[in-house]
Amino acid sequence: MKAFVMKEIGRVGFMDKPVPEPGPGDAVVKTTRALICTSDSHTVQGGIGPRENLTLGHEAVGTVHAVGSEVKDFRPGDRVLVGAITPDWGDLASQNGFPSQSGGPLGGFKFANSKDGVFAEYFHVNDADANLARIPDAIDDDVAVYCADMLSTGFMGAEKGNIPIGGTVAVLAQGPVGLMATAGARLRGAGRVIGVESVASRQKLAREYGADEIVDFTSEDVVERIHELTGGQGVDTAIEALGADITFQTAVKVTKPGGTVSVIGYFGEGEFVRIPRVEWGVGMADKTIATGLCPGGRLRMERLLRLLEAKRLDPTPMTTHTFHFDDMERAFEVADKKLEDVVKVLITF
Ligand SMILES: NC(=O)c1ccc[n+]([C@@H]2O[C@H](COP(=O)([O-])OP(=O)(O)OC[C@H]3O[C@@H](n4cnc5c(N)ncnc54)[C@H](O)[C@@H]3O)[C@@H](O)[C@H]2O)c1
Ligand SMILES: [Zn+2]
Repeated sequence: MKAFVMKEIGRVGFMDKPVPEPGPGDAVVKTTRALICTSDSHTVQGGIGPRENLTLGHEAVGTVHAVGSEVKDFRPGDRVLVGAITPDWGDLASQNGFPSQSGGPLGGFKFANSKDGVFAEYFHVNDADANLARIPDAIDDDVAVYCADMLSTGFMGAEKGNIPIGGTVAVLAQGPVGLMATAGARLRGAGRVIGVESVASRQKLAREYGADEIVDFTSEDVVERIHELTGGQGVDTAIEALGADITFQTAVKVTKPGGTVSVIGYFGEGEFVRIPRVEWGVGMADKTIATGLCPGGRLRMERLLRLLEAKRLDPTPMTTHTFHFDDMERAFEVADKKLEDVVKVLITF
C-alpha cells in the first residue's frame, strides 16, 4: 500500500508498505478521509525526535477492512471514526482516569509517534472495541473526521477550563484548535468569548464559532485590552491554543484570581515554560493551570458524533483545501507552510 512518511527530520515523501495485520483485539481500517494537523509539521520538524520512514497523520475516518478474532462490535465494511489518541484501556493510567497518558506520558498518542499513522491506504487500530466509533449514516466522512482531533482537543480546552455558565473566556490563538475551543466555550455556556488572532480569515471564523470580540495581538496589547473588555476583572478561563511562552504568560495574566488557564497548545521549544510570578499571585492567586492531550476512545468519539448529528456545530467551514492522497506532497506543503490562507487540509482517498 501507499503511505506518506517522514523519511527523516525535515523530509517527507511516499513509500510502499505492507497492509497492516490486526492482532486479536485490533482492527485495520481502509482510509477514506484524513486531515493534516499542525502537529504533523511539529513531528517533521523533529518535535518527537528522529523517526525513520514513520507514516504521518493521526486524524482519519474509514471503513473497517479486517478485525482480530476477539473484536466483538465491529465488522469489515463498518464506517468508523478513530480518535487521534488510541489509549490502552486496560492500562493503569486509564484506570486512573487519564487514558491519554496510558503506556507512559502521552503514551496514548500512538499514530505517527510510536507506530505508523493514518496517511496511508490502510492503518492499524489497537483496542478496536474501545477506540473505534461507528459513524451514523447522517454524518458524512468529511464532517466526522473533525472529531478525531480538532473537536476533541478544542472542546477539552473548554471542558478543562471549568467555564462557569455566563462566564468570560479568552481563547489565545484561533487556528483550528483554538476555533474549536471557541466553539466549545460557547457550547459550555460562556457569556462572553474573546478570541485573540491576527489572521483576518481566522478572525472571521472565530466570530462564526462564537467569539464576541476579537483582539489582534499584532496591533493591540492583549493583556490591557482583555482587562479593558472585562472591566478590569480578567476572564474566568483563558485557553492557550498556540503552545508559546507569550500566549501562556498572557493567559496567566488575563485570568482572574480563582480562574483557570487551560493549556491545549504544544510547547515544542525551549527548556522551560515561565509563569509570570506577580500575576500568578506570587503563587497564591488560586489560579489553576490545567493541561491535557486530546481525549480519545469510543465513548468520547460517540459523544462528538452525537453533537454533529444534532447539528450543534459544523466544522466544515475550516476545510479550506481538499486534495487527493496522490497529491499529498503538495497538500503537506500547503498545510506546513500555511500557504493560501489555509486552515485545514482535507485528504480524500
Ligand atoms: N493538546 C493536544 O492534544 C493538541 C492536539 C492537537 C494540536 N495541538 C497543538 O495545538 C496548537 C494549535 O494548533 P493549530 O492547528 O490550531 O495551529 P495553527 O498554527 O494553525 O494556529 C495557530 C494560530 O496562532 C496564531 N498566533 C500566533 N501568534 C499568536 C499570539 N501571540 N497570540 C495569539 N495567536 C497567535 C496564528 O495566527 C495562528 O492562526 C499547536 O501547538 C498544536 O500542535 C495540541
Ligand atoms: Zn492533530
